[in-house]
Amino acid sequence: EKPGLELTVVSVPSYACQRHTPLLHHNTILTDALSILAENAELSENEGRGVAFRRAAALLKSLPQEVRGAEQLRGLPCLGEHSLRVIKEVLEDGVSHEVETTTHSEQFKAMKALTGIFGVGAKTADRWFREGIHTPSNLQRSGHTLNRAQRAGLKYYDELNLPVTKPEAVAIGQIVERAVHAVLPGAEMTLIGGFRRGKQTGHDVDFLITHPDEGREEGLMPKVVSWLEAQGFLLYQKTTGNSYLESKEGPARPASNMDRFERCFSIFRLSTDNEGREIQTGREIQTGEGPQTYSPTLTNTDPHTHSDTHPHSKTDSHPLPQTLVVVGDHAQKVSWVLGNSQCSGPRSWRAVRVDLVVSPYSQFAFALLGWTGSKLFERELRRWAIHEKAMTLSSHALYDRKRMQYLRASSEEEIFAHLGLEYIPPCDRNA
Ligand code: GTP
Ligand code: MN
Ligand code: MN
Repeated sequence: EKPGLELTVVSVPSYACQRHTPLLHHNTILTDALSILAENAELSENEGRGVAFRRAAALLKSLPQEVRGAEQLRGLPCLGEHSLRVIKEVLEDGVSHEVETTTHSEQFKAMKALTGIFGVGAKTADRWFREGIHTPSNLQRSGHTLNRAQRAGLKYYDELNLPVTKPEAVAIGQIVERAVHAVLPGAEMTLIGGFRRGKQTGHDVDFLITHPDEGREEGLMPKVVSWLEAQGFLLYQKTTGNSYLESKEGPARPASNMDRFERCFSIFRLSTDNEGREIQTGREIQTGEGPQTYSPTLTNTDPHTHSDTHPHSKTDSHPLPQTLVVVGDHAQKVSWVLGNSQCSGPRSWRAVRVDLVVSPYSQFAFALLGWTGSKLFERELRRWAIHEKAMTLSSHALYDRKRMQYLRASSEEEIFAHLGLEYIPPCDRNA
């Protein structure tokens, strides 16, 4: 054996929920390759194969050092024959033939492009692909009848495929918080999903809403959505009701990991020139005429807004806040990707996917844990619970099948303790 190549790892536990998985790790080249194969499997509706690649990638993400030779992987869990083969190829040749073939395949490219449309899943994309539809423009010209979500997805395709930045997530958070407090004082809102795990960008922004007085949160979502809609902040929304209360099946049913919370899938209209001003003038922006055409520089003002509501926003000499500059980069990109539209310069808003979830206070810890992710981390938690502890975990509850009782928890720490797991903080759940 070559000296100096042994990993100083004695043993690595096999469930991702037993490990610390940071966002930044030492094996990105390997995990990028495995992620492509996982994605391809998922797009081909081969879930089992997808999970196998994801577990192998997650194992590599949790290692404290860079893997330089396949011999270092001896004895490690989660690495199936196929994943090992890919890893060896990348270590030896720098690339994997299978990964290269996949990324260049017409089917993979088309499936990615089509499922990149909000409201389009793998099944629909595959059907379209077999009809010769390979791109969003193909779809647009096909004359297919699309549902409301898909129409919005197509309309804002480029923007929704631009990553959402942290400053944009913060700006959206301020808007949602205002909405929540306006319709239910005392309600609490938490950033969940990838941003809670420390990601600097995301495909959307996710929020969990609750109220300390159990029951006060009932029917909250429609009110929040109405407020946001009235203020002109929503380009699209679909709200699904809480079926949990109506259900006679009881919480945490093993057969279904579907959520029964009040949920809203939405597309926000986020001002990109100054999120502070957006908060004050959402309504004016919506009702102002010609909202697509704005002056090209960020310091120029929107003629439809009133200076008396934001006295500092009009001076060209006024220094721009940091977030404004970062968000401004997006305005440039948006205008670039929308080059064929009627925009004369960067317009002052962009579309952002936002998910809202409302949970009763007593289920808050379970909802928080269940909606923070990553998806694989969640899957591993549930697998650990059932196989190692005979417990059923959902975003609503934890059920002990041996003692035949629900285990209460008011924090994520308590849930990990019930499960006999070391507490893993959100930043280490990036499996
Ligand atoms: P990006 O948005 O791509 O940055 O990553 P993300 O981790 O935030 O992913 P996403 O927004 O898709 O989901 C956030 C978390 O919510 C993940 O842990 C998912 O497992 C979880 N989630 C998403 N949809 C559902 C659902 O329908 N039910 C439940 N229980 N969880 C969900
Ligand atoms: Mn997310
Ligand atoms: Mn989401």
